[in-house]
Parts: sequence; C-alpha cells; structure tokens
Amino acid sequence: MHYTKTFLTMFSSEEITRFESLTTPFYYYNLELLKDTLKAVKETSSEYNYHVHYAFKANTNNEILELIQQYRLGADCVSGNEVKKAIECGYTSEQIVFAGVGKTDDEINTALDNNIFCFNCESIPELEVINELAAAKNKTAQIALRINPNVNANTHAYITTGLEENKFGINMWELEDVLVALADMKNVNFIGLHFHIGSQITDLNDFKGLCLRVNEIQNWFYDRQIIVNHINVGGGLGIDYENPQQNPIPNFEAFFKLFNDFIELRPQQELHFELGRSITGQCGTLISKVLYVKKGVNTDFAIIDAGMTELIRPALYQATHSINNLTTTSTESKRYDVVGPICESSDCFAKALMLPTTKRGDLIAINSCGAYGEVMASQYNLRDLVKAVY
Ligand code: LLP
Repeated sequence: MHYTKTFLTMFSSEEITRFESLTTPFYYYNLELLKDTLKAVKETSSEYNYHVHYAFKANTNNEILELIQQYRLGADCVSGNEVKKAIECGYTSEQIVFAGVGKTDDEINTALDNNIFCFNCESIPELEVINELAAAKNKTAQIALRINPNVNANTHAYITTGLEENKFGINMWELEDVLVALADMKNVNFIGLHFHIGSQITDLNDFKGLCLRVNEIQNWFYDRQIIVNHINVGGGLGIDYENPQQNPIPNFEAFFKLFNDFIELRPQQELHFELGRSITGQCGTLISKVLYVKKGVNTDFAIIDAGMTELIRPALYQATHSINNLTTTSTESKRYDVVGPICESSDCFAKALMLPTTKRGDLIAINSCGAYGEVMASQYNLRDLVKAVY
C-alpha cells in the first residue's frame, strides 16, 4: 500500500534533521503555534471582555508559562507550588486563582501571603480553614464557591467532574448551609461562582447545558439577594487529536460566542474561563525513536524509546494521539502496535496502527501532547525525566 496524506506531518525537513541530532525521547514545543493560539484566544475572548486564566496543570514548562504570561492571561493554579511558580513567571497576584478540593494549610498560607485574586472553594470545612488562616494574618480572602452543576460533559469518566457523584464542588442541596456558614465568617469575602464540568469536551452543546444550569443557579442566588462579581465557568474545551494538522487551533470563536449567546450575566458581572488543553495541547509533540520492530501474532510491534513514563494519557484514559513516522522513506505501509519499553501491558500508544514500513532508528512523532503530557511524566523504572526542546 502506498502511503497517503494521512501520514502528513506538521514538521519541516529542517526540524526533522534537527530531531535526528538530538537524544530521544523529548518533548518538542512549537512556540509559533502557541503564539498563534494565544492570539486567537485573546482576540476572540476580548470581543466579549471575557477573562481567560491559563490552567497551569496542563503544562508548567517555564518557557510556556512565560510566553502565556506575555499575552496577559491569568493563572489558574491547583497547588501552592503552582501559585509560587505563577509569581516567579511574572503573573501578578490579582491574576491568580487557586482551586482544588484538598488545599493544605501551607498552600492556603502561600496564597494568602501572595494576596491572590480568589480561592475557588469546594466545601464548608475548607471555607472554615481559609477563614481561620486569613484571620490569623489579619487578612480577608476573596472566595468563589465551586458549585457542582450536575451537568454531564460526555467525556471520559476519569475527566468528568461536574456530576453529583464526583468529589468536586458543592452540591446544590448543600448551598443553604454554605450561606449560613459564610454569614459567620468575617475573613472571607464571597465574590464569585465557579464551575467546571470536565475536560476534552468536543460538543459545544455540553457547554450550552452548563450555561443554562448557571442561569438557574444564578436565579437561586438572586432570589436570596446575592449577586457575585464574577462567574467562572472553568475549562474543558477539547482539541482535535485525530487531525491536529487540519485543526491546530481550536474554534475559540464559536466557544466564546456560545457563552455570549446563552449565559445570562448580571450588569457589571465578569465572565472568567480556565483553559488548559485548548491553549497548549497542539503545540507539543513527543519525539521518540524506534528501538526494535518485533514480530507479533496479528501485527508487529514497533517498540519505541518513549513510554507511559513520558506520556501517560493512553495508558490512563485510553486516549488516542495521532502518530507519524517522520523519517521512513518506505512507500509501503502496514499495521503496528506502537508500544513503549515499560514493563506494563498498558504501555501502548496505538494498536494496529497503519504506518509506512518502520524500522529501527526511525523517528516517531506522537502529536498533540502539549497538555497533560510532560507535566504528568514520571521516573517509573528509574527512567530519566523527559526533556523539552523548543
Ligand atoms: N479548571 C478546573 C477546575 C479543572 O479541573 C481543569 C482540568 C481545568 C480548569 C482545565 O481544563 P482543560 O481546559 O484543560 O480541559 N489529565 C487529563 C485532564 C485532567 C483535567 C483536570 N482538570 C488528560 O490528560 O486528559
């Protein structure tokens, strides 16, 4: 079989020559694509005066964080170390929000010391601790309540967060108690409502469901004479893992327009987002080399030098990333299981994938790895921590 345009890659021959001179595996970041993505986010969100925070958890590589900061995005942090990193990378304190279902006292203190914009809070016990720690510092912490909207995001179960059975957020039936508790807390200032229904959401209708639910929840608060300064609808916009070459930048225009069409904001109310994957997902590629091609029963195995230690998404979420052989000159193609070297059967990147005939030494690109790739790398099997190249 001759190979067709499905095997097209995003890389120039200069880039591939450069990859050949480097030790694999490594993450390669296309900062030009990241800039174009940031430009698109900025332009489309500014049209509606929306505030976008970059979800640090997707990728905390310094170069990437500093570049994103230059586009004046805020920082959505989920640990004390992410808060510290945001400050180091030039994000100002009023650009930082701090979320997470299990914030430690040390992390809360770090955030208080840095006077961050807002804590996204998920339970009464957490609010009590923030109130107490803020009182000890004679400060007032700004807080948003993360509400579990019970909206299905139709994504993988491990990255669904907005259902009642998930650990995240405060359920509607707990809200009266939260308001009673808040009335006695002198060192927290309730300024926002926060939501996040899940990640890698590709059907915009799911966000429409969120908007309609937010409107209902806002009415519930309005009936109690409460209007908060801002609504934060989290992140979750998906990327095209199948055809990254055709769709390198997500459709931010349609995404923000949908919120503009369906969410009902009160006068002066700000709308905030926390986007991770849609910003960095497509700019990162895991570059690896074929170590061995081994005969299999149904398909041969292309054993590469990157494994679940470098990219855990396929093993953990059954995620599929498109894969290219960057250096083969073969015009024939066949099916391979593309697997890593780790002693786990789940260390597999693709099953029965059609690739041009592949041999030892060929460079393999695993695409769309800029989000939840390098950040989730481990040293399992005492492997070296994966490096990055720009
Ligand atoms: N806000 C909150 C509260 C979140 O929990 C998350 C992601 C985001 C924002 C950013 O979501 P994004 O725009 O990136 O979808 N490791 C998984 C994804 C975990 C997402 C966790 N929360 C993966 O590789 O698919």
